[in-house]
Amino acid sequence: MKAYIFDLDGVLVDSAKYHYLAWKALADKLGFVFTEKDNERLKGVSRMKSLEILLEIGNIKMSEEEKEKAAEEKNNLYRDYISKMTPSEILPGVENFLKEIKALGKKTAIGSASKNTPLILEKTGLDKYFNAVADGTIITKAKPDPEVFLKGAEMLNVDPKDCIVFEDAVSGVQAAHNAGMKAVGVGDKSVLTMADLVIKSFEGFSLKCLETI
Ligand code: BG6
Ligand code: MG
Repeated sequence: MKAYIFDLDGVLVDSAKYHYLAWKALADKLGFVFTEKDNERLKGVSRMKSLEILLEIGNIKMSEEEKEKAAEEKNNLYRDYISKMTPSEILPGVENFLKEIKALGKKTAIGSASKNTPLILEKTGLDKYFNAVADGTIITKAKPDPEVFLKGAEMLNVDPKDCIVFEDAVSGVQAAHNAGMKAVGVGDKSVLTMADLVIKSFEGFSLKCLETI
């Protein structure tokens, strides 16, 4: 493999908890209960689609204009949380693995739907490990569309077949395959069934573990 492409939320950092707190504040305001289990449905899903799922849970109808306002309100609160993030929030084993691949001169990119990717990379200090960032600010099609990963490969000037993707969302694993790339699922084996390999986390993970795929 010449290049390694990483999803951000749920793979490199646990930002899902901040998404949850921000969506929950909106649900509280709208007067319904939004649980952590409900939040699972929003992983890997775009901001507007997340809002639509949230409104469906609360059985609430909104005009397009109201939706724009609600999504902005949620994002402002989310940004308050992530602007306080520190390098201590990088998930276990992630930095060791990034250091290992960088030491071998391999290329690395981010492939994330989030428009807040630059802020998280800056606050956690992860930005120094990546040659390219393909994120929600430059893509138009959500995963499982391969756009974000193809964009990452293009930015790195690497053939998609020489890239491997790390993903925690089913739609992300599908997007990697749709891009003609191998996919390592980070999370639950019973959920990420289509991945070429599934790891619980990066703890103890090294390039050697990829020899089987
Ligand atoms: C994904 C997250 O990475 O980014 C989703 O898994 C989130 O939960 C999506 O909705 C969009 O993020 P943002 O930061 O642009 O609202
Ligand atoms: Mg993710």
